[in-house]
Amino acid sequence: MSAPKPITFTKADADALVTVTGRIALLLTADGKSGPLGRRLDRLSRGAITRATASAAWDKLKPGEGVDIAWPAGLQAEALQLVKLPRRATMAEARKAGATISKALGAGGVTVVAEGQIEFAELALGLALRAYDFAAHKTTGVKERGDITVMTADPEAAEAGARAAMAVAEGVCFTRDLVNEPANVLTTTDFANRLKAMEKLGLKVEVLDEDALTKLGMGALLGVGQGSESPSSVVVMQWNGGKKGDAPFALVGKGVVFDTGGISIKPAAGMEEMTMDMGGAGVVAGVMRTLALRKAKANVVGLVGIVENMPDGRAQRPGDVVKSMKGDTIEIINTDAEGRLVLADVLWYAQERFKPTGMINLATLTGAIIIGLGHEHAGVFSNDDALSAAFLKAATAEGEGAWRMPMGPAYDEMLKSRIADMKNTGGRPGGSITAAQFLKRFVKDETPWIHLDIAGVALPPKETTLAPKGATGWGVMALNRLVADMLEG
Ligand code: BES
Ligand code: MN
Ligand code: ZN
Repeated sequence: MSAPKPITFTKADADALVTVTGRIALLLTADGKSGPLGRRLDRLSRGAITRATASAAWDKLKPGEGVDIAWPAGLQAEALQLVKLPRRATMAEARKAGATISKALGAGGVTVVAEGQIEFAELALGLALRAYDFAAHKTTGVKERGDITVMTADPEAAEAGARAAMAVAEGVCFTRDLVNEPANVLTTTDFANRLKAMEKLGLKVEVLDEDALTKLGMGALLGVGQGSESPSSVVVMQWNGGKKGDAPFALVGKGVVFDTGGISIKPAAGMEEMTMDMGGAGVVAGVMRTLALRKAKANVVGLVGIVENMPDGRAQRPGDVVKSMKGDTIEIINTDAEGRLVLADVLWYAQERFKPTGMINLATLTGAIIIGLGHEHAGVFSNDDALSAAFLKAATAEGEGAWRMPMGPAYDEMLKSRIADMKNTGGRPGGSITAAQFLKRFVKDETPWIHLDIAGVALPPKETTLAPKGATGWGVMALNRLVADMLEG
């Protein structure tokens, strides 16, 4: 797994700057102010910084953006990157500054000169997240990137400040790795093993195999996986950092390692993207990792349903009727609406076993949410205004787009089946909402619950501020913050 790039903090040393090779990134306020190190760099480069920050180009830069002075005179560095960071920078601006620096990172590495009041935690998070690169399967053409060093007056304090942020970075990068990984590598078995390995972080991890799931009556989940050579499982990850005996908060994830659509097979174009259909489970795993790494004072349980949706002689057919663990029967209209079948059983199991104080599930559930919200916001469906508001606040604070969507009993009409208790699809109109209504049937009235449809945000088509093109790890930061705000506050 590609751990986030480590960041080293060293004591400010003006003399050392002269001999630094690779890149130097200097943080400056909007009016071009830095500290003694910045002034030294300016003198060494014969006023290049003064001239650059007096330019119209500098004026145009937004907070967190930067400009390069290539091969600066008087220095051995290959580039001097001037990064604009206002005096009382917001969290987003400090992260953006870090990301700007990491995006330009080359083989020679970078020395970041950070003087004045810098939010080191946010800067470090931006540095670590944008330095992420999924190169596991490249044998050539890998962009080499050197070390990241931050030079500052009090490196110990800066490093301590950045510690929790690095736990977040590691959780996000874990999620990204899982989501980027192809399905012949991240098989159902491999996925469960990677989660089991998190036991060494102090999590309690159980893998329920197909026999256990059969005994529990998880017919909905098992039906989805029955066409695959790779066994289905439910993995339960417990972090008990809170009061002993207190009921946990539950996170539930859809973990379809590959979604061909099954017998209702998907068109070929773009099908390769369905390696990301375990994105919900990936986020749950990333959050659990972060909580364990930062030893969160909260009880949280993460449950993921891991399956592969394949067409096969044994695969589930349209028209089949399956029985969920709850006891409700479901007529399969479209085998491609598999995520809700997996979640139905895991949601029910989570409530029966843990009686959680609240429950949030994440899933790359519908293409319709992409039509509705694009790649900027995840869809938020909830039976509880307070929990929903708390989540939206956390997501906004973390810069992770999330938008509340409607629910209501009128949509249930579309799920009526002639021969079973319900159908698994409701047709095209409001496709994301009928999917949410389906899930709601497996949520008890007394459980505050949110369903996050992350189909549009898990693997957007372009790079984002904090992620190169590929998996984003959307949601790890928001959920980690929600746990901190709501359960540790
Ligand atoms: N995994 C897909 C949803 C998806 C689509 C995720 C695009 C990411 C990008 C899901 O299992 C699915 O196939 N949903 C169907 C539901 C339909 C058959 C009711 C869909 O959205 O078309
Ligand atoms: Mn599908
Ligand atoms: Zn799917």
